[in-house]
Parts: sequence; structure tokens; C-alpha cells
Amino acid sequence: KVVIVDYGSQYTQLIARVIRELGYYSQVVQYDEPLDTDEVGAVIFSGGPESVYEENSPGLPEWFERYNGKVLGICYGMQLVVHALGGAVEQGKTAEYGRTELEIIKDDDIFSGIEKHLTVWMSHGDHVKKLPKTFKTIAKSKDGIIAAATDEKKFWLLQFHPEVRHTSYGREIIENFLSRVCKLVPNWSLEDFIKQKINELREHLSGKKVVAALSGGVDSSVACVLVHRAIGENLLNVFVDHGLLRKNEEEEVPRIFRQVLGLNLLKIDARKVFLEKLRGIVDPEKKRKIIGEQFIRVFEKEAKRYGATHLIQGTIYSDVIESAKSGKKTAAIKSHHNVGGLPQRMDLEIVEPLKNLFKDEVRIVGEMLGIPRSIIHRQPFPGPGLGVRIVGEITEEKLEILKEADDVFIQVLKETGWYEKTWQAFSVLLPVRSVGVRGDKRAYDYVLALRSVDSVEGMTADWSRLPHEILDLASRRILNRVKGIGRVVYDISSKPPATIEWE
Ligand code: XMP
Repeated sequence: KVVIVDYGSQYTQLIARVIRELGYYSQVVQYDEPLDTDEVGAVIFSGGPESVYEENSPGLPEWFERYNGKVLGICYGMQLVVHALGGAVEQGKTAEYGRTELEIIKDDDIFSGIEKHLTVWMSHGDHVKKLPKTFKTIAKSKDGIIAAATDEKKFWLLQFHPEVRHTSYGREIIENFLSRVCKLVPNWSLEDFIKQKINELREHLSGKKVVAALSGGVDSSVACVLVHRAIGENLLNVFVDHGLLRKNEEEEVPRIFRQVLGLNLLKIDARKVFLEKLRGIVDPEKKRKIIGEQFIRVFEKEAKRYGATHLIQGTIYSDVIESAKSGKKTAAIKSHHNVGGLPQRMDLEIVEPLKNLFKDEVRIVGEMLGIPRSIIHRQPFPGPGLGVRIVGEITEEKLEILKEADDVFIQVLKETGWYEKTWQAFSVLLPVRSVGVRGDKRAYDYVLALRSVDSVEGMTADWSRLPHEILDLASRRILNRVKGIGRVVYDISSKPPATIEWE
């Protein structure tokens, strides 16, 4: 495998992905994290925001002395190696950011098949002033800065970022390093992953009783179908209908998983209890808490009745990396906050079959397993569902209005091809009524906010620049078709400072 040591670069995950796409298994570790070096075929030091000459800047990993293979140092990774081996790094007078022209001045395996002049992406203020003794410069930037260097034994160092798309031949450089310098053979494919994972799950779980909370979200769906392939009927998928789902979802999701995919699915109709518990509650945090606790209660009852010993969770690799960065070494439970408290309470063992995959890999695996597009390309939906999209008190009447209106909005986006272009689009029912005219009569109906955002992982987001005609179509259809809505507005707030959801 290829190990990427993370020094805090915003591109670390990108390095890991490019390597996977090239057909090698990659793993990201934090620089201060322990590592068993036995199976490591290549090491990459990522970039990072710090300066090596500053006190307390991150150093070489503790395990590095035990590692005998080769290293690719990128940006901070280059400076770190130079600094550690007695060279000099300085702050540049003119920092090089963005596109830079580069010239290869000495042939090397890492530049095999690449033109002598190329455009690369730089993003650091520091650069190498003097290389350690045994190193040679193999590429220079047009300002004369050392852009690439090697000792031709252990270290290949790049001042620029080969992992970003703006670097021409970036992929080729990484591939050359892995195949020509490290002599690795690509052997990572998602077909193999599926086969191996199913065998592994079968061994680990045969004869066991396993439960999952299936919501129809991408990650949990793929995890459940994979486990189903391994152990069939011994996986019970519990689908809790809390009444806060989108229009027809409580019919559609169970139908797909039962009829199309053959899963053992138990649907629990808990709509009444949830509505009762939520009656009169206005505070968003209280609503979330009630919904979460109630969900656990319903799910726990079924899991106990079934005699479950294991719980499936749809944790994916970005969740694992994010939680490692924030200092918690255990995987975060993101896809279903709702069953978060359950494993300890019930003494269930957690199974996370997707925890080494990136989101796009999860989607491909899902497609290979035959899960329909409508599930695989679904937008994220919060655990508390429409409960946090009705601002203020939740009532049955408001739920009906919101379901209808949101369905119209999403249909418009699907018809016009915008649904798959946005990260998340939805409607929010406001506790505000507004005056209007319908026919000759005065009307006094609710205000509906449309929200659509572009984002990568949901951590930050910008409002989608939907064309006016699309907004117009959605607004007119909603006002004509949905009783109870008298005014439609579009939310143009970014995150931060706003959040994606309204509550
Ligand atoms: P915010 O509103 O925090 O949302 O900007 C970021 C992403 O997380 C989703 N979200 C949730 N997901 N339980 C979930 O499973 C929740 O309580 C929850 N709150 C927000 C939100 O839809 C967006 O994708």
C-alpha cells in the first residue's frame, strides 16, 4: 500500500484519491500517528501550512527510521526532508502561488515521458535555498527556485503539487514515482474490494445476528447491500418511518430495498409517537434531541427483539480522516447521528464495511451492486428530516404542505437537469404568514423558502446560482398547486455564517 503522511495540506485527500484512481491502495495517516511499516510500498509526505524553521513545526514520523522504502515529499514534505538532512529552507521574497512555469533540467524516472517545460501549481511561501549534500536539482521554476530534487536513492522531492488538476502531467509524475521509482504494481480495484469485503464479512459475521438502520441515504444503503450479499437474511434492516420523511419516501425506499434488492427489511410506522412527542416544541435543539432519542428507542426495541449482536454503520473514509484530524482517533458517526448512542447502550459491535472508501468510490460500489440511481445519486438528508425544515412547531398540516411543496421544487430541478448539479436542494416552511390575493379574495398563507447549495463535503457551502427561469418555474408551480403557500422566497446565504439547514 501507499501511505500518505498528512501534514495538514488541504490537498491530502486529493493525493489519496489520485493514487486510488491509478490503481494503488492508499491510506492517509497523521504525521504523529503510529504505523506498522511492514506492508508499506511507498510513502508520500503531504504539503502543509507551516514552516519547517519554526519551533514546534511538525517533524518526521516516529516510525520513519524503520521504513526502508522510498519517499515522495510534496511542498512542506520537501522542505521537511531538506531541513532534516541538513539543507536550508527560507521564506521566499516573492511567494509563488498558483500557476508557475517549470523546466526539467535533468532526466529522472519521475519525469519519464513528460515534456521539458510544464505548468505546475505552487502554493507555499517557503522554498529550498540549499539542498543537502547528496541531492541534485532536477527541475527549476522560471524564477530559478528549486522545484524538484532527488538523492536518487530514497527521496524524490517536489516544491509543487502534482495532485491538483492545474499541474500538467501531475498524474503522470505520481504514477512514475509509484511504478518506476518504487516499482509497485497496481492491484487496487473496486471489483476486488467487493469480493474481498464480502468474504471478510461472511467470515466475521456468519451465524451472527446483525442489524442496521436503513434510511435510504447513499452510505448506509451501500453498506447494507454489501452486508446482505455476505450474510443474507441474517441482516435485519430496520426502516423507521418517523413521519418526517419526504413525499412517498416511506413507500419508495422499502419497495426498492425489498423488491429490487431483496433485503430483509422491517418497516416500523412510528409516525404517531414522533408527532405526539414533538407537539408544542419550538426549540430546534429540543426537536433534534426528541427525534434522536425517539429513534433510538424504536430501533433498540427491534434490535433487541431480533437478538442482534452487531450493528452496521455507513462510515466512509472522509469521516475517518476528519475525525482523526480533529484529534479523535475513533471514526465519527455521521451518516446516522440517530443511532449514535446505541452501540454502548446495547453492547453491540460496530461493523463499518465502507470505512476505507471515498464517497465517489462508495457510489461506484453501489452501482456495481445494482442499487438504483435514485438511491446512489441521492442528495444528503438530515437524520431529523423535515423536523428541522419546519421552523417552529411541527404539525401534521404543516408537514403535508411542506412535503407537497418540496416535491414540486425537486421535480422542477430534476426536469431541468439541476438536481445532480447541486449538493443539496430543499424547501423550508417558515412560521410566517403573509397577505395575498387569490381570485378576488384576501389570502393569508405560509411563506416557503427554497434553498439550494453547492458544496463538497457540507462543511462549507455557497448558494446555487439557479437561473431565474428555474426559480420562476418552481415558484409558479408551488403557488398554483400547493394549498397553504402564499409566497416563495430563495435563500441566498452562504455557510458560514449561515448553515445549510435552517435549524
Ligand atoms: P448544516 O445545517 O450543519 O448541515 O450546515 C450540514 C450537512 O449536514 C446535514 N445535517 C444533518 N445530518 N443529522 C444528520 O444526519 C442532523 O441532525 C443533521 N443536521 C444537518 C445537512 O443536511 C447538511 O447536508
